[in-house]
Amino acid sequence: MQKNHDIPSLGPIPRHVVIIMDGNGRWARRKNLDRLSGHQEGIKSAKSVVRTAQEIGIEYVTLYAFSAQNWKRPGNEVLALMNLLRNYLINEGEELLAQNTRLKAIGNLSNLPHDIRELLSRVIKMTEKCDSLTITLALSYGGREEIINAVNSIMAEGKKKKVTEEDFQKYLYTSQLPEPDLLIRTGGEMRLSNFLLWQLAYAEIYVTKTLWPNFRRRHLLKAIANYRSRERRFGLTGEQIREKGS
Ligand code: FPP
Repeated sequence: MQKNHDIPSLGPIPRHVVIIMDGNGRWARRKNLDRLSGHQEGIKSAKSVVRTAQEIGIEYVTLYAFSAQNWKRPGNEVLALMNLLRNYLINEGEELLAQNTRLKAIGNLSNLPHDIRELLSRVIKMTEKCDSLTITLALSYGGREEIINAVNSIMAEGKKKKVTEEDFQKYLYTSQLPEPDLLIRTGGEMRLSNFLLWQLAYAEIYVTKTLWPNFRRRHLLKAIANYRSRERRFGLTGEQIREKGS
């Protein structure tokens, strides 16, 4: 039977959602607060997004919590962000466990303060058997650094064979994660900011002007609804995709 292609059917829920949580500073400035207050409120958004992702059956959420370039921010802001991360790890371990949520981390973790690395390892170990949702924190993460790191690891192994895409992705920090389906960026800027440069090749991109501290359950649901209305093509034509699906 001929399908009516004028009526868009809703696509699947994304399996892996990655988020650039931007706009904490602007949120604080608009309220005449210091930048730290913006980051503090941003933690509440992160928790809300994790709970909502769990509720609607998203399997993987990756949060850009601290970039390799963020180390260049003023010393007091870096310290404050590290403190927030420390407190998050101290306070959220049990909650993640109760939600059957596994924690992972990607990035150049050796740059993090020693006690944070230990806390991180503890929560990662504690939640490693949780299998409903996987939250990955990108910490001291840079996409270019990740790619260079992969190239250097391959060269160090001294293999003479040509490297394929499949081989290459095994050397990325994300080797154990599926490809991202949806990138959400809050705060309205139209850029990738060195986030998951290799992995985002075919991801759908959703940019909202909503500042991260204001981004809560309903905003995530709106982003997911928008994603589900899209047709993902992976370089094929719309007709080819429809033939595959019929
Ligand atoms: C960008 O806002 C945000 C960051 C650099 C930090 C993001 C981190 C959090 C929200 C905390 C979440 C952490 C965990 C552990 C879940 P900005 O300061 O660049 O904002 P602006 O562009 O308005 O100045």
